[in-house]
Amino acid sequence: MAVEEPDVRPAGDGPLRCRPCPGGPLLVRGAAQVQGDDGTWHDTTRPVTAVCRCGASALRPWCDGTHKVLSQRGVNPIE
Ligand code: FES
Repeated sequence: MAVEEPDVRPAGDGPLRCRPCPGGPLLVRGAAQVQGDDGTWHDTTRPVTAVCRCGASALRPWCDGTHKVLSQRGVNPIE
C-alpha cells in the first residue's frame, strides 16, 4: 500500500530536510511545494510538512493520520 517518495520543491535557497517518521509520514522541513500522485504541485507554508507515505490518507499528498488507525488494526501500511 505504500507510495513512492514524493517530489518536493524547497522554499527559496534554504535547506530541505526530509526524515521518515517510522510507520508514518515523511516529515519535510523547508518545503514550498509537494507533488501529488497526479503530478499536481501543492503549496505548503508549514515549517514541517507531513507527507503521506502509506497511500491511505484522504488528503494526499498530506498525512491525515490514517496510518495510525491502520497500525492500531494491525496493518503496517509502510513496509
Ligand atoms: S502516512 Fe499516510 S496517512 Fe499518515
